[in-house]
Amino acid sequence: MMKKNYGIFALLFAAAALAACDDGYVPREEFTATHSGYTAKLTGHIDGADSWPDYYQLVLAGFGDSEYAVTQVLVSPDAQGNVCLTLTDIGNDVDKVELCVTNRLRRRILTYKSADVGTAVGDTIYLDAGQLDAGMYAAIQHEIFNPTCAQCHGLSTTAAAGLYLTEGQSHTSLVDRPATAAEGTRVVPGDAEGSVLHQVVNPGNEAGLGFSHEGMLTSTDELRLIDEWINAGAKN
Ligand code: HEC
Repeated sequence: MMKKNYGIFALLFAAAALAACDDGYVPREEFTATHSGYTAKLTGHIDGADSWPDYYQLVLAGFGDSEYAVTQVLVSPDAQGNVCLTLTDIGNDVDKVELCVTNRLRRRILTYKSADVGTAVGDTIYLDAGQLDAGMYAAIQHEIFNPTCAQCHGLSTTAAAGLYLTEGQSHTSLVDRPATAAEGTRVVPGDAEGSVLHQVVNPGNEAGLGFSHEGMLTSTDELRLIDEWINAGAKN
């Protein structure tokens, strides 16, 4: 009889734990902050969050007029990739809540999901990431290679210099591969400056190519993203 009761308690406890996110569970350390504004709730299944080197962080953040986060909290999925996270005390200076990557200065680098404070239900803004690959390499593929490079490097019938920058092929085509049109190795893990990829896209250094890539990547954020990725080991 006793045993059976324990079993029921264990079940109830497990059910309560599972329902915790939807029931407004707030991590313990956030209880101390007095609630005085909106709360944002992020749910979803996120892969690759830990692939970002120190200079970056994957966060749930509030933004106002500027590209610097007013407030942010780190997104750290559990071992299965599940995320259930709350950002509290969102003040009037915030218009938008985003699942995004910010740099060390809290400046926005790229955004995965965004919700206006105006969409709040009561005082809660809901963000669902769904099933998301938030890995660093996926970001480079989607933000840089797909829109800017792939049309010449594999999307058309021939890939320029035999280099594929298309989804699913780019990593194998880059890392530790000898360059064909330039001198050297396309990507040397840990050594951005010594990598042909870096040399080709940065101004003033064309790696001896017969075709200039100057002006294709003008954003220092994009150039830095590539360098940080290479220096952190060029992982997929
Ligand atoms: C308009 C077409 C075009 C676009 C867009 C383009 N490339 Fe290229 N790329 C070329 C051509 C052509 C070559 C080969 C030049 C040669 O043979 O001297 C090349 C060569 C390269 C090489 C040297 C590869 C090797 O093995 O020698 C790298 C690295 C490279 N491109 C990266 C990029 C990246 C990164 C982007 C996007 C930011 C990009 N390319 C966008 C046409 C393009």
